[in-house]
Amino acid sequence: MKGIILAGGTATRLFPLTATTSKQLLPVYDRQMIFYPLNLLVKAGIKDILVIVAPEHSGQFLNLLGSIFDKFDIRLEFKVQKVPKGLAEAFILGEDFIDDEPVTMVLGDNIFEDDFSLDIKNFKEGGLLFAKKVSDPERFGVVRFDDEGKAAQIKEKPEEWISDFAITGLYVFDNEVVKVAKEVKPSERGEKEITEIHNHYLGKGNLNVAMLKGAWLDAGTFDTLLEAGNIVKEKAIYKNFDPIIDEAIGEFNAELKAIAKKRL
Ligand code: DAU
Repeated sequence: MKGIILAGGTATRLFPLTATTSKQLLPVYDRQMIFYPLNLLVKAGIKDILVIVAPEHSGQFLNLLGSIFDKFDIRLEFKVQKVPKGLAEAFILGEDFIDDEPVTMVLGDNIFEDDFSLDIKNFKEGGLLFAKKVSDPERFGVVRFDDEGKAAQIKEKPEEWISDFAITGLYVFDNEVVKVAKEVKPSERGEKEITEIHNHYLGKGNLNVAMLKGAWLDAGTFDTLLEAGNIVKEKAIYKNFDPIIDEAIGEFNAELKAIAKKRL
């Protein structure tokens, strides 16, 4: 299983914060946002991770993450997405990296309380998504379930209500996803929508949509960014990181401190 973190985009809703750095490098309590999706993948035992970033922030991502896992058996690769052309493009940019394996993609601004290790390790084929009940479904990709609780319809940011269940930014797909992504045509807003991929698998009867239990935050607005930090602290989510992540951050900090001390 390969892992992708999609951490590009321009995040205009967070200006002026994102005029100087990437949204996914903004702090969520005691660490940068990107460590949350990284943790999700590392916890699931994924060793090969591709981080897709915007060109203007690529240096910052490299400074933070470029050698942080050297000591551990985890390989990070980076790819620049020149223009944010949609979530589905990640699978095209990642084609060589994905090779002939299945892939788990997490959005760089999504923070989850749940542990998905077993879902990811037990994944066999098709697509696997995770839904959560929300009060503002029009902001998300939304899934409607039938009477038997099976996914029946999926729509990106529906103007007319179809359901309260948002599809969260964690996607597990088999290797066919690369081919499917290439066939996705840009939507009215000019993006290759990931919901087109969902609908492909739904149409084939090969899509599972599981329900999230814990908290989920899409930290793309001032309010949700603040809420993310507060929830991480209140629910002590920052204490549940994989030891690899905590150790890697600890060593990164120690190294920086040593360099600063030398300079002084
Ligand atoms: O958060 C979950 C939602 O994420 C899903 O319910 C939707 O189906 C999905 O389309 C997406 O909706 P958003 O409107 O929240 O997507 P946004 O444009 O904010 O992009 C999500 C993240 O991906 C964000 O961190 C920026 C990054 N991104 C986005 C695009 C379009 C890229 O790196 N490249 C891109 O081309």
